[in-house]
Amino acid sequence: MSTASELLDFIQSSPSPFHTVKTVADLLRDAGFIGLTESEPFRLTAGQGYFVTRNGSSLIAFRIPENGRVPSFMIAAAHTDSPSFKITEPGGTEVAGFYTRIPVERYGGMLSATWFDRPLSAAGRVVAAEGEAIVPHTVDLDRDLFLIPSVAIHMNRQANENASYNAAVDLQPIAGSAAVRGELPKLLAEAAGVGTDNLLSYELYLYPRCRGTVWGIEDEFISAPRLDDLQCVFAALRGFLSAAPGEALPVLFLPDNEEVGSQTKQGAASPFLSDTLLSVIEALGGTAGDFRRAVAGGFMISADNAHAVHPNHPEYAASTHRPVMNGGIVIKHNAAQRYATDAISEAVFASLCRRAGVPVQHFVNRPDMAGGSTVGNISDTQVPICTVDIGLPQLAMHSCFETAGVKDTDYLAEAMKRFFSSRLVKSADGALSLL
Ligand code: CO
Repeated sequence: MSTASELLDFIQSSPSPFHTVKTVADLLRDAGFIGLTESEPFRLTAGQGYFVTRNGSSLIAFRIPENGRVPSFMIAAAHTDSPSFKITEPGGTEVAGFYTRIPVERYGGMLSATWFDRPLSAAGRVVAAEGEAIVPHTVDLDRDLFLIPSVAIHMNRQANENASYNAAVDLQPIAGSAAVRGELPKLLAEAAGVGTDNLLSYELYLYPRCRGTVWGIEDEFISAPRLDDLQCVFAALRGFLSAAPGEALPVLFLPDNEEVGSQTKQGAASPFLSDTLLSVIEALGGTAGDFRRAVAGGFMISADNAHAVHPNHPEYAASTHRPVMNGGIVIKHNAAQRYATDAISEAVFASLCRRAGVPVQHFVNRPDMAGGSTVGNISDTQVPICTVDIGLPQLAMHSCFETAGVKDTDYLAEAMKRFFSSRLVKSADGALSLL
């Protein structure tokens, strides 16, 4: 199977951050990794791979070096969430005239127009009472259930000139006639395999059910929901699993909530990464000092998709930096340090790619545009480690159907494979070698 169709399967099985974590955990288990629980002491064996989750929506995986020692951390980060609509809770439905409407809030900064006029489903988690226990279930309704209808051109002649959408008015999906009000809890209970009376709460995100596709005259493009950032999650995971064991601790860090600023217990601004890495060091008999030295000697690749130059609006790209799809991995630069890249981390990453035979490109926001942010610089405030911000070039970021280059997934997987089996050695005079 080609990488592109594997990526499409991966995306299809990951309609919410909870599902992304489940998909990744299943693949890790298949590869022999063992799941750990944060609330219990880690018991670790040399040569073995492990993973731990937080909130069911963030995940960290690592593999203990053969000699059971951790001189440094080699970390790759990519986020599990994508912009969507979250069904408000409790309640879940309201009657709007003839229709049952599903009240939603925006999650992240989506391109609203792309969500109109296409069947939507919902996925996330449902929490149920089972005896004395409160049990979370990862749930995908996996049916065409909802739709946000646009207003006909005849009723809004300005629609093509002045598109503007009010989240409380224009972006509320319908689910059927008024008669189906109250059916949502039944669907959720059924999907979770519990009785309706046992339903306690839920967190559900809308998603388009259309499968992604590979297209273009030479099949060079891939379009799908959630390429930002599941394309990077997929490529980082693939590199992580295929890397030969090295001397450093390879770490795959997949935080949730990047699209809403990362400031949650499971986000990149939380101590999830530092807590986990410190627990690993302690479990191997190391000290807080050993942890700090492994951070100081380590490296992080923060991977989050980047903007390719737009064919119809090339003016939005900086005149000097014009990444293209299928042109290779994009290194991101920002003077205000919203991207963590500096001259050192750029040089390390670019030489890694050269050795892996992978092309790189460069991105900087047009100097009069603010641009987005990502996980690298936020995570660095918790785990201060030499970091490069990179991504794969794509169009229509935060559309519910994004477009990227087929080759770029392979490029990132190859670079990650090389990265995870490497170790960075820093000498006292500041020189670095990637071994
Ligand atoms: Co992103």
